[in-house]
Amino acid sequence: ESIRTPYEMIGGADTLARLVDAFYDLVARHPDLAPLFPEDFTEVKERQYQFLTQFLGGPALYTERHGHPMLRARHMRFPIGPVQAEAWLACMKTAMDKTGLEGELREQIFERLRLTAYHMVNKWDQEE
Ligand code: HEM
Repeated sequence: ESIRTPYEMIGGADTLARLVDAFYDLVARHPDLAPLFPEDFTEVKERQYQFLTQFLGGPALYTERHGHPMLRARHMRFPIGPVQAEAWLACMKTAMDKTGLEGELREQIFERLRLTAYHMVNKWDQEE
């Protein structure tokens, strides 16, 4: 028998590509997030696709191409407070809905992403 990874269980590359597309369409229109990103999302979409692939147990695409993710360090040059973390998570939740991810596995993945998002917070003294 074979143990299936979350990556396989959600439908692999095709599902992740759709999730990442839906997610950054929302990020690009979110007032708390868009200003942090470049106008062209091509590169960040590609990197997020690679990262999520390995995060969910698929091939280590991100590390193969860019080395250790060191995600918190790579986010330090951007001011990220709880407001941005919640905005990121709200976009991800909607993107998961649009991609048709549901059930217990979706909730588990979302909870791991919530922890990761709060791990990126580098500015706690944020005014609303
Ligand atoms: C890159 C924002 C959370 C994964 C970026 C970039 C920004 C950003 C502005 C760089 C865009 C550029 O290249 O100019 C945020 C904000 C977050 C957040 C505001 C809110 C907490 C996350 C989370 C993950 C993630 C939770 C993982 C699940 C990535 C990856 C990259 C990236 C893989 C590309 C890193 C690289 O190779 O340089 N993010 N991010 N981010 N983010 Fe986030």
